[in-house]
Amino acid sequence: MNPQEPSEIKIKELISLFNKKKFDELIKLTNDILIQYPNSIFIHNIQGVIYTELKNYNFAKDLFIKTINLNPKFTDGYYNLANIYNKLDKEDKAIEYYEKVIELDYNYFKAHNNLGNIFRKKGLNNKAIDCYLSTLEVNSNYKLAYYNLAVALQFYTINRENKNINKHLLYLLKEKIIVRPNSIANNILSSLFLNTDLKNDLSLIKNINSKKNLNIIMNSLGNNPLLLQFMKVCPIPNYYLEKKFIQIRKEILNQIYKLNFEKVYIKFLISLSIQCYLNEFIYEKSEEEIKKIKKIKEKIKSNLNNNKKINDLEILCLSCYEPLSDISFSNKINFSNELNEIFEIHLKQKEREIEISESIKSISIVKNKVSKNVKNQYEENPYPRWVNLGLSFESRNMSQVINESDLNLDFKKIKFSENPEILIAGCGTGQHAITTASKYKNAKILALDLSFTSLSYAKRKANELKIENIDFIQGDLLDLESLNRKFDLIESVGVLHHMDEPLKGWKILKNCLRDNSSLMVIGLYSEKARQHITQIKNKITNLKIKPNPENIIKFRKDLLESNNSRWDNIKASPDFYTVSGVRDLLFHVKEHKFTISKIKSHLNELGLFFLGFEDKLIIERSS
Ligand SMILES: C[S@@+](CC[C@H](N)C(=O)[O-])C[C@H]1O[C@@H](n2cnc3c(N)ncnc32)[C@H](O)[C@@H]1O
Repeated sequence: MNPQEPSEIKIKELISLFNKKKFDELIKLTNDILIQYPNSIFIHNIQGVIYTELKNYNFAKDLFIKTINLNPKFTDGYYNLANIYNKLDKEDKAIEYYEKVIELDYNYFKAHNNLGNIFRKKGLNNKAIDCYLSTLEVNSNYKLAYYNLAVALQFYTINRENKNINKHLLYLLKEKIIVRPNSIANNILSSLFLNTDLKNDLSLIKNINSKKNLNIIMNSLGNNPLLLQFMKVCPIPNYYLEKKFIQIRKEILNQIYKLNFEKVYIKFLISLSIQCYLNEFIYEKSEEEIKKIKKIKEKIKSNLNNNKKINDLEILCLSCYEPLSDISFSNKINFSNELNEIFEIHLKQKEREIEISESIKSISIVKNKVSKNVKNQYEENPYPRWVNLGLSFESRNMSQVINESDLNLDFKKIKFSENPEILIAGCGTGQHAITTASKYKNAKILALDLSFTSLSYAKRKANELKIENIDFIQGDLLDLESLNRKFDLIESVGVLHHMDEPLKGWKILKNCLRDNSSLMVIGLYSEKARQHITQIKNKITNLKIKPNPENIIKFRKDLLESNNSRWDNIKASPDFYTVSGVRDLLFHVKEHKFTISKIKSHLNELGLFFLGFEDKLIIERSS
């Protein structure tokens, strides 16, 4: 027993009161105890934590200082003090104390993590990344550090060798809900080039047409888990890799009957097949390849008819050129266990979506001509196609979320619903609706879209992620009022600018707001940001190019091979690496663009108050 501290029973009693949040009672009780134990570290510390909860940070600060004066090795005291300095926006002090904690106890992983958060707050993302990596080195089960790492990676490009990072990037790509792989794709690419032998291996492709070289390349790529996983979850936005993959695919097809069934081939081809499925078979193919694939198809069909065994390598090759769901006999194939993933992605998912589609209710028949054309585009090419996404670490009340945002709003005067009803107008393939559903506690979401195929994709993904608070519904935003429903929050991103009359659509959304405290999040195309795209769109319109996959692939290839640097921005866009993305980016049936003054005049006309841009750099970029 420590004579400076109250008994263990007393301490347990105090902790229990703390867990019940009985703060007033606790303060009284601990003040009494302090008379008998004036040097108790425990009592000063718990009082500091109580005052932190009560947001009385200066009071809490003094109490934590007292604890470290009483014991200069009391790590919790330094840690709590650092947290308080962070809350008081005294970042340098917070850094000093987190560093002190780490000096005293390197295994105090939360100090590494919180130190990373401060560096991130200061815009020092490289230092933040190092801190998250050391957090994970000490405790690889601390999920929050992965969420933080994922955010920091979105604002920084890895530019130095660090072999340690690959296992964490791999983890991020394997997790379904921590990060959108697209948003860290550049870092995955950097890390693959810096921290694996990828570049060397790919240079061998110059002489790929020997079985020996193909074996060497396959042994290396087939044993690169980060690359293989990346190919399974993200259309890879890199033309250099695309060209290499096209060469490899062609060479495997050339040598298909000369190859042994080595595991590495299967592993690589599974990833390549999924990559091609994700990018909607955007890779160019030669006449010779088309002929060879046709022969393979005939062979599989004949083997199926004659009850002969189907060769895995043939199925894999075929699935790198076409979705198996488009091939009439593919449902007769008895897939081996090794090809389970291919079966799931090429066939089962589509099957499930068709089933789901029948369960989606419509609000009305689409009448507006532009809406009909837009619907048609997204029925053919649901967009965006995604695999994993970044959800909030935990859901919070609407008031908490708004409170922590930078909105130009006196949130204290507004009472937000505890069970907000939220409309996602134009939910597409669900990424947006699912993200919002995970952000707000007790939210009830209605997700509307014109396109059944997009909605089916969205609902399949929501089912897979066990998200149950979203109702998906098909219809035109123009017919929303027929639902007779009001919402606390309406979000519509990337939608109004595809309508015949965006302002008309916006008015309808406004009429669906519940009352004066309801909010709206709107995402619109910027005239300035899309200048370069307008030039290309004009070219496409003048040439009357129809937006079918063949034309899209050909047009894209011409752009990729042009040396004109004007198109560099477009080539860098992740959208440029899937067919539906290119269609959305360059071949859209309808698009309007907005300037800030146009938005301002619309807001005036609608009687809406502007609360701020989500992206704070937008004003700088638009001037
Ligand atoms: C570019 S996607 C954006 C999807 C989603 N908001 C996101 O951010 O991922 C645009 C979506 O808006 C839908 N859309 C466009 N006009 C619409 C309308 N009048 N009514 C309902 N949905 C519409 C399209 O069908 C398409 O799925």
